[in-house]
Amino acid sequence: MQTVLPAPADRLRAAASRFGTPVGVTAVQALADAAAELRAAFPDPWLRAYSLKANDVPAVVERLGALGLDANVVSRGEWAAARRAGLPNARTTLEGIGKTAGDLRAAVRAAADGDPLRWVAVESPEELDALALLAARAGLGHGDRPPLDVLLRLNPDVSPETHAGLAVGHGASKFGMTETELSAVVAATPEGGPLAIRGVHLHVGSQLGAVDAWRDAVRRGLALLALLAAGRAGLDTLDVGGGYPVGDPGSVPPPARFAGEAARLLGAIPTSRLPRRLATEPGRFLVAHASVLVARVLHVRERPGWGRIVVVDAGMTELIRPMLYGAHHGIAALTSLGRALDPGELASSGIEPARVDGPVCEGTDTFGDHALPPLRRGDLVAIADAGAYGASMASTYNGRPAIPQVLLEPDGTLVPGRPRGRLIGR
Ligand SMILES: Cc1ncc(COP(=O)(O)O)c(C=O)c1O
Repeated sequence: MQTVLPAPADRLRAAASRFGTPVGVTAVQALADAAAELRAAFPDPWLRAYSLKANDVPAVVERLGALGLDANVVSRGEWAAARRAGLPNARTTLEGIGKTAGDLRAAVRAAADGDPLRWVAVESPEELDALALLAARAGLGHGDRPPLDVLLRLNPDVSPETHAGLAVGHGASKFGMTETELSAVVAATPEGGPLAIRGVHLHVGSQLGAVDAWRDAVRRGLALLALLAAGRAGLDTLDVGGGYPVGDPGSVPPPARFAGEAARLLGAIPTSRLPRRLATEPGRFLVAHASVLVARVLHVRERPGWGRIVVVDAGMTELIRPMLYGAHHGIAALTSLGRALDPGELASSGIEPARVDGPVCEGTDTFGDHALPPLRRGDLVAIADAGAYGASMASTYNGRPAIPQVLLEPDGTLVPGRPRGRLIGR
């Protein structure tokens, strides 16, 4: 399978020589294309928020904000990144199973200051109690301080068509509340208090290979919302999460397929009972294909019986997905034996098998098997589809600083997006 890169090879080589390797290069045009495809699938009045967990490089968040995406964050750190990128609280939602007391306090403080988040999606009855206590202490829901809007996260108990490590919507997962728990929470939360329960939040999993589990989950979310809204005013929102996959055309369902399923389900509901707000919050789909990890060859080894092993200067510290759950990332050579490969040669350059390994002291630090031309120390390779869950999951293991991140403008200009981290990482 040919590796498709979102940027010309000469620009990737230019990034390597200007910023050093490894370097992350994000093609702004590819971000815009993905944002446009998402908007076409989920047009207004759908709310479209970008999940910063997929890639929190400030320049990337800023570009997606400028392309009209709102922000979906899981911590004060991501919230700060969204704000730095120019996204106001009114366009930002907070969710996540790991919210700290500090995160909840910050959400309440912002509301008390008259600048609330769009909503906070709550994971459990305990978290709701903690948030309600803080909100009551801050006087939310009294006088001129409106209550804080919350969604309740449903565990939709479906069978997501994805890698086990990416499936979060099954009954045994730690995420969200069962229908029974969620309904009990609504019943136990008085109206007119410091929190306004506005609806249901769900997320099925990431890199979904089919639409079925997602459709089942949305159906459950809609049914539960209808049931709860019948007895209580103000429940008017469904957030269907993210999960839209990336892959070769035809190999995975595009966002439009998911949107089509949602449209069919919504079409069966009488207009008067439709949720007034619908939201989606993808991460991967918006950023995965846009970024390339450019790495340099450190060693080439011929191992009798095992073949060629190419060790490059990027690995699990920059892109852990292959090591964490066996994700495949295409790799193309940008140079061969010191000579630049032109775009035609890139396509036809896959002539010898090679296992591509990373540089850190772990046997699992490998990108697996690829077809690559002759390589020697100093040659450059491009690791594709590195934009999602790469930079945001990076570590400084082995004393390796965070790599520089660069934006590639449509006119070919390279713009620094984040500098290399300091050598002393901690
Ligand atoms: C609640 C929630 N929403 C959205 C996302 C984004 O998922 P994806 O990057 O697959 O679109 C995630 C990913 O873990 C999530 O947990």
